[in-house]
Amino acid sequence: MGADSIQGDIRFIDAARQMGAQVDSGPNWLEVRRGAWPLKAIDLDANHIPDAAMTLAVMALYADGPTTLRNIASWRVKETDRIDAMANELKKLGATVEAGPDFIRVHPLAPAGWQPASIHTYDDHRVAMCFSLAAFNPAGVPVRILDPHCVAKTFPDYFETLFLVARAAEVPVICIDGPTASGKGTLAAEVARLLGYHYLDSGSLYRVTGLAMRRAGLEADAGHEAQIAALAAALPLQFTEGKVLLAGEDVSDDIRTEAAGMDASRVSTLPAVRAALLALQQRFRRLPGLVADGRDMGTVIFPDATLKVFLTASAAERAERRHKQLISKGISTTLDSLRSDLEARDARDSSRSVAPLKPAQDARHLDNSQLSIEQSIDQVLEWWQQVQPFKSA
Ligand code: C5P
Repeated sequence: MGADSIQGDIRFIDAARQMGAQVDSGPNWLEVRRGAWPLKAIDLDANHIPDAAMTLAVMALYADGPTTLRNIASWRVKETDRIDAMANELKKLGATVEAGPDFIRVHPLAPAGWQPASIHTYDDHRVAMCFSLAAFNPAGVPVRILDPHCVAKTFPDYFETLFLVARAAEVPVICIDGPTASGKGTLAAEVARLLGYHYLDSGSLYRVTGLAMRRAGLEADAGHEAQIAALAAALPLQFTEGKVLLAGEDVSDDIRTEAAGMDASRVSTLPAVRAALLALQQRFRRLPGLVADGRDMGTVIFPDATLKVFLTASAAERAERRHKQLISKGISTTLDSLRSDLEARDARDSSRSVAPLKPAQDARHLDNSQLSIEQSIDQVLEWWQQVQPFKSA
């Protein structure tokens, strides 16, 4: 799209220029750079770019005076009443906004004036997209876009595209650590899904390393430590659609057996293996956020995590759950052998010298022996709400 595009919205670049942006263009391309900062306030008849002007209303928060957009009565009869919608949501961020039948005036926000807010999107893709600019606020307050999937109407991967070009000072991480079969995986995956965050199942990395060790004919002892660590550092791993691929082969089921769990627990005691997997785990920390489960997420891998949860359940309860899980997969086993395996694994994980299983000092403890999965999820989301102080919508 060049400056001579026949799209009406191309005139948005004139408004952006008036606000101080530097815009260069050529055949079929545009390049936009920061010029004046703060942006310059404008008073604009936006009748010719009604949709794109919504973005100007959010840019106005970063201007040097009040910005007025006029002749926009059509905003009132779009996906939602956009004048009301923009005014309501801008006010949640702390802005002073005046609005009338066909205009909106937005006053800029001083750094101290920004407030954390959950932005309601009214099933309107443009509201979701333009308010993402509020996340660049100098106060560093969090901005949550509710129902972000509404962008699917015109730009399904809008947020992924934004995250490719944006760098965050800090990407939020929720750590869920705890012993074997405490339900970490289910809880962490669901919390990640509900928040739209990435998910790291760190145990799967140790499980795959254990599998790679077996296939290479090695044993998990100090004599093979360097060789196993070299395997771990170069694992040709891919996570796609809930599957774990090792060199393209689906090993999701192979790594879930009890024997693979034991191998994982053995390789995980080797310091060189843990070191080899460190950077790989930290690379999962990407926008918009990460939920990571394991044994040392809060203590070693992400010590600065925003929220740390230590999840436990009684050994009897955990053995029971694992039993049900295996039976449903047609794998026969006894409760007694499962319980002694669990306890052996807990003992090894807790007593090893590097990154032993233990709660981080600042972890919140959650015993889910008597809780349903939903109750555990609600508890974690409530804690998240407390540490990320979003105003309710
Ligand atoms: O969580 P999961 O049961 O899949 O983990 C398998 C084994 O991997 C654990 O018993 C533990 O020994 C090891 N592990 C670890 N550190 C992690 C995750 C798993 O040592 N962060």
